[in-house]
Amino acid sequence: MLPEVATNILKASSIRLFATNAARATSQTAVNRMASVTERKKKPTEEAHINFKNAYRDDSKFGKRPIYLDMQATTPVDPRVLDKMLPFLTGLYGNPHSSTHSYGWETDKEVEKARKNVADVINADPREIIFTSGATECNNTAIKGVARFYGKTKHHIITTQTEHKCVLDSCRHLQDEGFEVTYLPVGTDGLIDLEELEKAIRKDTCLVSVMAVNNEIGVMQPIEEIGRICKKHKVFFHTDCAQAYGKIPLDVNKMNIDLMSISSHKIYGPMGIGALYVRRRPRVRLEPLINGGGQERGLRSGTLAPPLVCGFGEAARLIREEFDDDQAYIGKLSSKLTNSLLSLPYTQFNGSKEHHFAGCVNVSFAYVEGESLLMALKDVALSSGSACTSASLEPSYVLHALGADDALAHSSIRFGIGRFTTEAEIDYVISAIKERVTFLRELSPLYEMVQEGIDLSTIQWAGH
Ligand SMILES: Cc1ncc(COP(=O)(O)O)c(C=O)c1O
Repeated sequence: MLPEVATNILKASSIRLFATNAARATSQTAVNRMASVTERKKKPTEEAHINFKNAYRDDSKFGKRPIYLDMQATTPVDPRVLDKMLPFLTGLYGNPHSSTHSYGWETDKEVEKARKNVADVINADPREIIFTSGATECNNTAIKGVARFYGKTKHHIITTQTEHKCVLDSCRHLQDEGFEVTYLPVGTDGLIDLEELEKAIRKDTCLVSVMAVNNEIGVMQPIEEIGRICKKHKVFFHTDCAQAYGKIPLDVNKMNIDLMSISSHKIYGPMGIGALYVRRRPRVRLEPLINGGGQERGLRSGTLAPPLVCGFGEAARLIREEFDDDQAYIGKLSSKLTNSLLSLPYTQFNGSKEHHFAGCVNVSFAYVEGESLLMALKDVALSSGSACTSASLEPSYVLHALGADDALAHSSIRFGIGRFTTEAEIDYVISAIKERVTFLRELSPLYEMVQEGIDLSTIQWAGH
């Protein structure tokens, strides 16, 4: 497409003409893709059966690729989001902070519409939404920002052992600056104990930071109860909602949330944009990480990127429109996948089944090494944990926190289901997993011993 665009630039007598043509052409592609997605979503399983030897997706001009079940790492951009973004990359190029002319006014108006769309999902005031580069920046800004602002009198932070690395790492940095951090443990279901949380709150606690939905196991913490406890003790409550925003009902007022981290690329919006909700009444004060022109209420300086902001806004608007449909659809696929996987012997569902977001299914397959299983499943894009830790081959610290031993943590796979996953893909993955797990277990001496009735816990392994 690029050479075509370049030729168009040369041919077009004015940039405006080029802009309209390019926008229209891509918009058409987006519409076509959307139509095929809708069709795929509706296709009954039998009709859409995928040939076992030909399981690769080919719904794009990027060649054949595996089935995508890694929705916690990122979600594909909804074509309707792309349509919304395109005019800002062509004709609507004004700086939204330019207040002296119409180029600035027109983008500013759209940015403010997007801000309202993002705010509406969580019942916030648009003035409480600060655009950032993503949830990592939000978590850093919220945790370091609150701690540093109130740090003269308050030196203590509470979080949990199963937070995303960017929360844990922000806390570690604050420990280097002299803050004390309590890392609350979780039970075997992945949930924190609310009594333990309340007991951990001290007179000098400035912040409680607990994620709403875990990115590895999908466990939902009791956010409303945590908010109530924080309010009672007059401690600020921050929640990392990168995996929760748009996926579970959230209301900052009902849940007494003071700060919330949101990421656009987890809700079918573009990468590189997120939002931090910061309560205005009672006001939460923050020390900004980035100083400069004073944009975003002085909490995050720098020129906003209207294509990203408006794409994010559209993704948020679509979330509100399609929330019930998405939930029902993802829930249906998730139940099918979970029930089928758990019908295999020696499998375990990781985390609470009751307090759980359906789009994230984490299952351990005993006597199969997770990485070997991933290698045997080249036709499915999956992860054995979060995108950042799966590269290190270390067993997941989240599963360890739930009490899993190394073997169990190593044998776990995360399945991420989203708006554009099809039932045929789920059916394929179920068959593929059954086949490959059976195959790998047949190669496993441990599995053979278990089949022979040997209790592995009684074996004295020789050290080396
Ligand atoms: C729970 C959680 N928090 C934070 C992040 C970071 O989000 P971003 O990629 O927007 O920086 C992620 C991304 O995987 C996440 O899952």
